[in-house]
Amino acid sequence: MGEHAKVFHKLGIGRLHGLLSTTAFVFLVSFVLIAAFLNWMQIPIIQSSPLIYISRNTKKHHERVQVPLNCTHAALQGRKCPKNYPNLFEPEESSTETCPDYFRWIHHDLQQWKTTGITEDMIERGKSSAHFRLVIVGGNVYVEKYKRPFQSRDVFTKWGILQLLRLYTGKVPDLDLLFFSGDEAKIMKRDYQGPNATVAPPPVFRYCGSEEALDIVFPDWTFWGWAEVNIMPWEDTLSAIKKGAERLKWEDREPYAFWKGNPYVAEHRLDLMKCNLTDKFDWNVRLFHQNWTKATQEGFKGSKLEDQCHYRYKIYTEGATWSVSEKYILACDSMTLMIKPEYYDFFSRSLVPLQHYWPIRRKDKCRGLKFAVEWGNNHSQRAQAIGKAGSKFIQELLTMRNVYDYMYHLLNEYSKLLKFKPTKPPKARRICVESLACPQKDLWRKFMEQSIVKSPSNKPPCELPPPYEPQAIQASVHNKEKMAKQVEKWETVYSNKLNNKKRWRSLI
Ligand SMILES: *[C@@H]1O[C@H](CO)[C@@H](O)[C@H](O)[C@H]1NC(C)=O
Ligand SMILES: *[C@@H]1O[C@H](CO)[C@@H](O)[C@H](O)[C@H]1NC(C)=O
Ligand SMILES: *[C@@H]1O[C@H](CO)[C@@H](O)[C@H](O)[C@H]1NC(C)=O
Ligand SMILES: *[C@@H]1O[C@H](CO)[C@@H](O)[C@H](O)[C@H]1NC(C)=O
Ligand SMILES: *[C@@H]1O[C@H](CO)[C@@H](O)[C@H](O)[C@H]1NC(C)=O
Repeated sequence: MGEHAKVFHKLGIGRLHGLLSTTAFVFLVSFVLIAAFLNWMQIPIIQSSPLIYISRNTKKHHERVQVPLNCTHAALQGRKCPKNYPNLFEPEESSTETCPDYFRWIHHDLQQWKTTGITEDMIERGKSSAHFRLVIVGGNVYVEKYKRPFQSRDVFTKWGILQLLRLYTGKVPDLDLLFFSGDEAKIMKRDYQGPNATVAPPPVFRYCGSEEALDIVFPDWTFWGWAEVNIMPWEDTLSAIKKGAERLKWEDREPYAFWKGNPYVAEHRLDLMKCNLTDKFDWNVRLFHQNWTKATQEGFKGSKLEDQCHYRYKIYTEGATWSVSEKYILACDSMTLMIKPEYYDFFSRSLVPLQHYWPIRRKDKCRGLKFAVEWGNNHSQRAQAIGKAGSKFIQELLTMRNVYDYMYHLLNEYSKLLKFKPTKPPKARRICVESLACPQKDLWRKFMEQSIVKSPSNKPPCELPPPYEPQAIQASVHNKEKMAKQVEKWETVYSNKLNNKKRWRSLI
């Protein structure tokens, strides 16, 4: 009963509090019973849940009702998916901010299906490339699992989608999608072009994309946590990194380039290891092996991301494909030295070289890194500004709210392309917050409790900006190449000067 009174209180009718507890409880219980009855009879009045009905009357300044994860027997009411969450989205504000520019890539990623639309046949053909299929019908989520993915990536991705439905209750349209939660590209352009253009490519969601692939880019699982390696949900990690970055001013940080990670996932990472400090040569680079097995055994003492902001420069290098580390690296207020990536995630295409990061080519990267560090130490104002701008991008544009808004718009635009009415596939099972989180233990459970959306948003999603003109995309690609060339030119001039000096010295 206390809980019900508390809910009432939260709804902002605290002035009634004195006479509340019992009357409110009786009222609420009868309301719930009537509601349940009407619902059972499928009488449509019950579109809005009782809690929302109350909140409507006190619209202006109410606190939002909070529905945390509750796995007790009573809360579940004998069901896997209890009905305990308000099911109507009623924003108080009509805020119409425009979403950040990186949202414009949504149109680009869906372009492939603009004319054909997405048919059930395409979904059928994509199944073999997916770990699971996720269908939303009337706000309920159904999942059909095809393959066992790596770690708990898929679970946290489904979790993220469930949170989106809690944030924008009733606003996420019906849809039917395939998700691949591995690293490698699945749907290659070359298989659907030229003489191969006999069938349309299946739409498959994935965490990253590349020039060669047609996969649809979706925020990765780490935004809700990476339990296997103790990386908290993004909101908490970001604020921890922010604090970590404040501990040491840029000038007081080590004047070298830092990287810590697992080098054994990719050839080019092993190649990077050659740039590490030796007793013979110093490339201004300090590299550290992150042995996750060892870190797990030792309780993750040495792997905290917020403790990795004590170098002026931080290296970003891709893993097997993209790496989730990008956002953590950029958030440190250090200048990011980005080894030319081949893959992008949903926000990274809008990062601009020499504005948000310093570009490093793949070949001869040790030399590039050494030059970048020396340049930065000589031009500390500019290096700091690049570091700051990169962090600002992450801290201000990559908020969790924007991550949800991105998901919302991507799914919304995607659903507009569907040529069929999504229905629950026969083998799919309903999932909900409780069915996913209640069986979890340890960090998995903790991160879910941490990242759960407790109440519907009080404002609508930001407004999706229009697509980029094709020329604008070309110009941005061009600009990136130009900047990289510029940096190489500076480096050449510099090394020529060095060589000349050496030659001079040998002449004297
Ligand atoms: C969970 O729900 C039950 C039944 O509604 C309630 O008694 C209990 O206080 C709730 N627990 C939490 C942590 O909200
Ligand atoms: C057609 O697809 C095959 C198989 O992936 C590929 O090897 C070939 O290069 C493609 N053809 C063209 C013209 O792109
Ligand atoms: C790089 O060099 C430093 C200093 O010698 C050393 O502590 C570190 O373990 C080396 N890193 C790798 C990945 O070998
Ligand atoms: C990582 O640590 C584990 C346990 O301490 C050890 O057995 C393993 O050899 C280490 N791996 C590497 C690549 O150093
Ligand atoms: C940095 O400054 C030193 C001393 O002025 C100079 O010798 C060196 O060439 C500069 N390096 C770069 C990359 O600007």
